Amino acid sequence: MVKMIKKFYSLISKGYNKLYYEEQIKKLRIIKKLVGNKIKPLLLDIGCGTGISTDFFGIKAVGIDPSLEMLKEFNSKNDKVCGICEHLPFKNETFKTIISITAIHNFKNIDKAIDEIKRVAKKDAFFIFTLLKRSKKFKTIKKILEKNFNLEEFDEGKDLILFGKLID
Ligand SMILES: C[S@@+](CC[C@H](N)C(=O)[O-])C[C@H]1O[C@@H](n2cnc3c(N)ncnc32)[C@H](O)[C@@H]1O
Repeated sequence: MVKMIKKFYSLISKGYNKLYYEEQIKKLRIIKKLVGNKIKPLLLDIGCGTGISTDFFGIKAVGIDPSLEMLKEFNSKNDKVCGICEHLPFKNETFKTIISITAIHNFKNIDKAIDEIKRVAKKDAFFIFTLLKRSKKFKTIKKILEKNFNLEEFDEGKDLILFGKLID
């Protein structure tokens, strides 16, 4: 499955921005309006793809994605790393903001991914996830997120935007 997802994104990488830039920017503008004041550096963008979401907030950020082809389309001053959410190559308590935009439905092991997200987050970190509503895994992922985070939500249309902090 991971190989299939990697292959899919490798195939569409060159046309990704043309196909999805406007759609993703629309979600990001809503996020900025809702919680822009809570988004602080250092930001981690998981499933960053071509970096649309990594660069959007204009703060120091790191993007991680398993698709080298998608990362090749990522041209910015921000750092990019090839890897998966289930094994984040970062030290404990590194990031003040963690975002994942239309990416979680691709993760193979959601529980492991959440453990890793929690490990690399600073104690008072702020989290933003957007979930693709038409994904078969939508309900399962939402439940897992709600077990771990105190989340508010906003229905954007294609995605459900969830944001908040860790449950202590
Ligand atoms: C729909 S794209 C979203 C890209 C970007 N966040 C945006 O808003 O344009 C989903 C991304 O998730 C990545 N992805 C797939 N499996 C992943 C995993 N296990 N960990 C992190 N990212 C993953 C894919 O390679 C792809 O680039």
